[in-house]
Amino acid sequence: MAATILITGATGLIGFRILLAAIAAGHNVRYTTRSEEKAKMVSSNTAVQKLAPGNRLSPIIIPDFGADGAFDSALQGVTHIIHAGSPVPFPTYDPATNVQRVIITSSIVSNLGLAPPPTTVTASTRAPLPSPVSTTFGDVFEGYITGKMVELHDTDTFIKINNPHFTISHVIPGYVFGCNELALDSVMMQTQNSSNNFLMMGMTGNELPFPIHGGFVHIDDLADLHLRVLFLEPESNVTEDFGVAEKVDYGTIFDHVEKAFPKAVEAGFFKRGKVPTLPINYGSSDVEKLLGRKLKSFNSAVVEVAGQYLEKLGIEKA
Ligand SMILES: NC(=O)c1ccc[n+]([C@@H]2O[C@H](COP(=O)([O-])OP(=O)(O)OC[C@H]3O[C@@H](n4cnc5c(N)ncnc54)[C@H](OP(=O)(O)O)[C@@H]3O)[C@@H](O)[C@H]2O)c1
Repeated sequence: MAATILITGATGLIGFRILLAAIAAGHNVRYTTRSEEKAKMVSSNTAVQKLAPGNRLSPIIIPDFGADGAFDSALQGVTHIIHAGSPVPFPTYDPATNVQRVIITSSIVSNLGLAPPPTTVTASTRAPLPSPVSTTFGDVFEGYITGKMVELHDTDTFIKINNPHFTISHVIPGYVFGCNELALDSVMMQTQNSSNNFLMMGMTGNELPFPIHGGFVHIDDLADLHLRVLFLEPESNVTEDFGVAEKVDYGTIFDHVEKAFPKAVEAGFFKRGKVPTLPINYGSSDVEKLLGRKLKSFNSAVVEVAGQYLEKLGIEKA
């Protein structure tokens, strides 16, 4: 049956792909953004237009998620929520009775914590919060990781205290790579492409000055997982979370590109870059069972992004 799904973050890499998958599956989709301009970017995107959603798709502008009552009108008639927008403060607890289920897009850093342990971590791992939780940070990553850890802990507490009538699950991805239909030209591909910016660095001769964790999921798998988890029916007073991150070494980015597009490499459209990997151990074997298929490989994500880049440059893919 068609659900009415509210998606936050739909003007970003992950939320946009979930939005496409939800429309394609026949659901009604309402999505939030902070600006009219970004809403237009979504409605005018060719991937959206191809699906011809008509009045099954509508934007709602919420300039400040944290404002009192910010979600009041957005939640009317909504049965399911996917919260893929960042940052991730959740609306204050005002239980719209129509809501049945909420999915929050987290990150494996919420399980790994500020310093990844040598042991295997899973979606149910809770990294201990620093005490007290800092409010100033040395860099953006420290702030980001702390925010994700706090959200995970706060949601556990919220469920315990409020025993809400709706269920909540987290979808917890590693770095997300794959074709981003919102990147409209070769410059956007390198600068406004969320995590794909890192892949682009590795294939266009740039150097990332710090390591990023080596856990990956393909954007197609992640979008499917969100919709799969959205319609599961777990018990109401527990969080059931679903992590997904395959081990990768970013030192292989250029090798994948070279193998798939030797002529473009020879012509100088691609150059070996340097993206250092911070090795991690993350267990996500149950996700393949849930999706009923093998997860897509890192190679396929790299080749897809490199192919999209050539397409934007107007270069033949070879
Ligand atoms: N990409 C990854 O590799 C990765 C990995 C693990 C987890 N995640 C998580 O997945 C989620 C989405 O990531 P993404 O890669 O799709 O990000 P993205 O492409 O940068 O998009 C971010 C989205 O969040 C919204 N947003 C940003 N700041 C906001 C704020 N202050 N208030 C409300 N909305 C805000 C933006 O909406 P508007 O600007 O239109 O308002 C946009 O739609 C985030 O929670 C991120 O932490 C991402």
